[in-house]
Order: sequence, then structure tokens, then C-alpha cells
Amino acid sequence: MKIGFIGVGNMGGALARAVSKTGDGEVLLYDKSEERAEALAAEIGGVSSPLATLVREADFIFLGVKPNILPFVLRDISPLLLGRPSYTLVSMAAGVAIRQIEEALGFGAPVIRIMPNTPVAYGSGVILYTPSENVAPASVDAFRSMLREAGMLDAIDERLMDAASAISGCGPAFAFMFVEALADGGVAAGLPRDRAQTYAAAMLAGAAKTVLESGMHPAELKDAVCSPGGSTIEGVVTLENGGFRGTVSDAVLASFEKTKKLGKK
Ligand SMILES: NC(=O)c1ccc[n+]([C@@H]2O[C@H](COP(=O)([O-])OP(=O)(O)OC[C@H]3O[C@@H](n4cnc5c(N)ncnc54)[C@H](OP(=O)(O)O)[C@@H]3O)[C@@H](O)[C@H]2O)c1
Repeated sequence: MKIGFIGVGNMGGALARAVSKTGDGEVLLYDKSEERAEALAAEIGGVSSPLATLVREADFIFLGVKPNILPFVLRDISPLLLGRPSYTLVSMAAGVAIRQIEEALGFGAPVIRIMPNTPVAYGSGVILYTPSENVAPASVDAFRSMLREAGMLDAIDERLMDAASAISGCGPAFAFMFVEALADGGVAAGLPRDRAQTYAAAMLAGAAKTVLESGMHPAELKDAVCSPGGSTIEGVVTLENGGFRGTVSDAVLASFEKTKKLGKK
């Protein structure tokens, strides 16, 4: 099997790294920047490939360009795909529906639309996916297998993709900001920066695991660690006074609204 990537920036590169770990196929890489494709190929044991070769040979073609560039890439690869008996396109473009991809190609191609996030590079990503009706069940199985080192995979109705993307795709940036802010507080309290950052990130990973594995409501977990008159509740009240939860929810909604617009450009 050959697995191709068109556009190997932040997200395409992270997915190519994850796929290369499984050894499910030869990884072909194409990017507008040949140097970027070659550097990644050297890092992960893949092959930097001309676009036409990749499109003619790859069984899976991951589309890793920005949503505004995607229509141009689809227009370029459409004639190369027309004569091919079997292949699957995998689009990670935020806000771009399967229907729009098929319209840009000019035919009903097998497309898996995904919403990944950059932690896939470390095996802790979230990948939400929707296969089009043209994708064979065996191709979905192969797709899931090649990404088994990337993190969690979850099939989702395409209508929910933009909402999910506002949490799983945009959320890492919010979480990175939270880690940075926690570390700033730790430094202000006297901790060395590297320790403060490590403790903040490890704490966040542990708290996330607790939510996922306990099945408990986050509010219940919060209450359990707030002793009456204690230090934790002081911090919780300070966050509430600063509008923490409302601001975070608004950030997700703002990202959702922006994502919906991306595909319409
Ligand atoms: N970043 C995320 O966290 C994230 C999360 C979920 C989904 N996504 C989706 O992933 C896609 C890529 O986003 P990104 O953040 O990875 O962007 P990025 O870092 O800018 O990567 C895009 C890559 O594609 C290259 N490129 C541009 N035009 C090209 C063309 N015509 N043919 C081949 N390569 C081309 C770019 O080169 P130049 O830099 O030289 O232009 C760059 O290397 C987007 O559709 C985005 O919606 C991203």
C-alpha cells in the first residue's frame, strides 16, 4: 500500500509522522516546498514525490493544504484521478464539506473527511472522521489501521464536524495557553520555569485522563478537590470572577463560527 500526503505542514506533517509509525505502507510526500517534503521524508523514512506520481500511485491521498488552497489542488489532481480504479482521498480541511470536494473534482470520489489535531504526532491526538458513501468498508478499516498510532479515532456525522473541530482541532491552542498561564503563575510563586511548565502540562494530562476514565462529571471532580476554606476553592472563585468558563465556551463558539466560514471562501 502507498499512502500519499499533499501538503506536509503542521497537520499533514503530524499525520504523516503518525502513519509512518505503523509501517502500514510506503509514505509518499509532496509539498509546494520540496525542501519541506524532503526533510520530512528523511525524518520518517518516507519518499519525497512529484505530485503526479503521488496522485497516480497512492492508495490513500491525504490533502493537507489550507482550505483556501484546496480547490486549486483538487482541480489539478482531478484529471489524474479520473482513470484510477481505486483510491481514497482523505481531507483534513477545516470547514470543507465532502460535497464541496466532490464538486471541485467534478465527480463523486471516495472521500474520508477528517478533523485531526496536532497531538497525533505524539500518539495522543483526536481524529474525527466521516466517510463518503463511495468509500468501501475495507478502506475505512485500512484508514483506521494506518492511524492506530495517532490517538483516538471516532466516526462522526458530518453535520457535527465543524462543532467537534472547534474543540478537538482548535482546542489544543487553548490548552497550550492554559499551560503557559499556569506556568506563569508557578513562576510568579517562585518555581523555576521548566519545572512549572512540566508540572502544568502533566497535571492537565492527568486531569484529562481522570475525566475520560472516571466517567464522572467535571463539576463533581472539581468539587471533590475543593476542601471547605481551602486553597483550591480560592483559585476556583478567582477563575469564576475572571469569567473563565464563559470565556472558554465563547472561544469554542467563535472558532465554530469561523470554521463554518472557512469552507465558504
Ligand atoms: N493546524 C492544525 O491544528 C489543524 C487542525 C485540524 C485541521 N487542520 C487542517 O489541516 C490543513 C493544513 O493546515 P496546517 O495548519 O497544517 O497548514 P500549514 O502548516 O500551512 O501546511 C500546509 C502546507 O501545504 C503547503 N502548500 C501550500 N500550497 C500547496 C500546494 N498547492 N500543493 C502542495 N502543498 C502546498 C504549504 O506550503 P507553504 O507554507 O509554502 O505555503 C504548507 O507546507 C488545513 O486544511 C487545516 O484546516 C489543521
